[in-house]
Amino acid sequence: MSILKKIKELKELFDSDYKLLIENQLDVTFIFNKYLGRKGLLNTLYPLLSKSNKEEKSDFGKKINDFKQYISSKLEKDLLINDTNELKSEIDLTLPESYQSHGSVHPITLIVDEIKNIFLKIGFSSIYGPEVDSDYYNFEALNIPKHHPARDMQDTFYINDNILLRTHTSGSQIHFMENNKPPIRILSPGRVYRNEDISVRSYCLFHQIEGLYVDENVSFAELKGTLEYFAKEFFGSDVKTRFRPSYFPFTEPSAEMDVYWGLNSESDYRITKGTGWLEILGCGMVDPEVFKSVKYDTKKISGFAFGLGIERIAMLKYGIDDIRLLYEGDSKFLRQFKK
Ligand code: DAH
Repeated sequence: MSILKKIKELKELFDSDYKLLIENQLDVTFIFNKYLGRKGLLNTLYPLLSKSNKEEKSDFGKKINDFKQYISSKLEKDLLINDTNELKSEIDLTLPESYQSHGSVHPITLIVDEIKNIFLKIGFSSIYGPEVDSDYYNFEALNIPKHHPARDMQDTFYINDNILLRTHTSGSQIHFMENNKPPIRILSPGRVYRNEDISVRSYCLFHQIEGLYVDENVSFAELKGTLEYFAKEFFGSDVKTRFRPSYFPFTEPSAEMDVYWGLNSESDYRITKGTGWLEILGCGMVDPEVFKSVKYDTKKISGFAFGLGIERIAMLKYGIDDIRLLYEGDSKFLRQFKK
């Protein structure tokens, strides 16, 4: 009998057996052995192959393989045969699934998400500002002209004379106001860069969240109320906060907010410089010069802004005493933040 005829015959036989299998009248191991086992029907084809002539051999070989493939793919789907055509019958199907290790959300992202949710409840939405920006958005439009001493506070990575890596998220205020009218309630989280010496306390990049509230008749009391609400939601209702006068070219008056951290250990002395208080943000009433750069009517419009340092808050919240741990991607460190 020719090979092709034999294959056709076996295929018909297999199809009818397969039907019985589906109807639960035959057992999979039985079918597997009947066709693909060591003494299975497929092996009866090979002696015929060796008898066929040279030209036909490779074609017939391929036909046998296709048929083998056909059988195993049918049985494989639901019947536990792997691609080497061995039955996995020794596997105990009642065993629990093997442990798979998944990544976790980075602590910086955890903090950003938590803060975003707190401000979301009082009507703020989150926007994106570019990390590579121009001198104009990062400095000029924020009332920090060339040669202004405030530029010294933010050692800048310049890409060329005009383009830089943003040193703070405040530039996103300008981008947003250029394209939108008040009332405005936004947060703009993201990465910022400064050419600082790397140490336990500082790194060449870090994260901030910028906040901006603009409307008619916005008061300093609203600024304080908003930030105190945030501190209570984030650190707990018994948190102690204080505002200290400060200076930023883009706000007037300006302040910084501290939270009370305590002085219980030697490291508390170190991180709070012996005061027990830790600065977490800068803020103030938007300077009219800033509104002028976006062509807002300074007689009608007022607002407040704030900039939160995320690393500080993450270190406070999780008791991290070396900022560099946040950027090393060490899985032993990151695993601790798994929820
Ligand atoms: N951009 C400031 C910084 O990086 C932080 C800041 C202070 C942002 C006061 C503000 C603000 O919006 O009003 O140091």
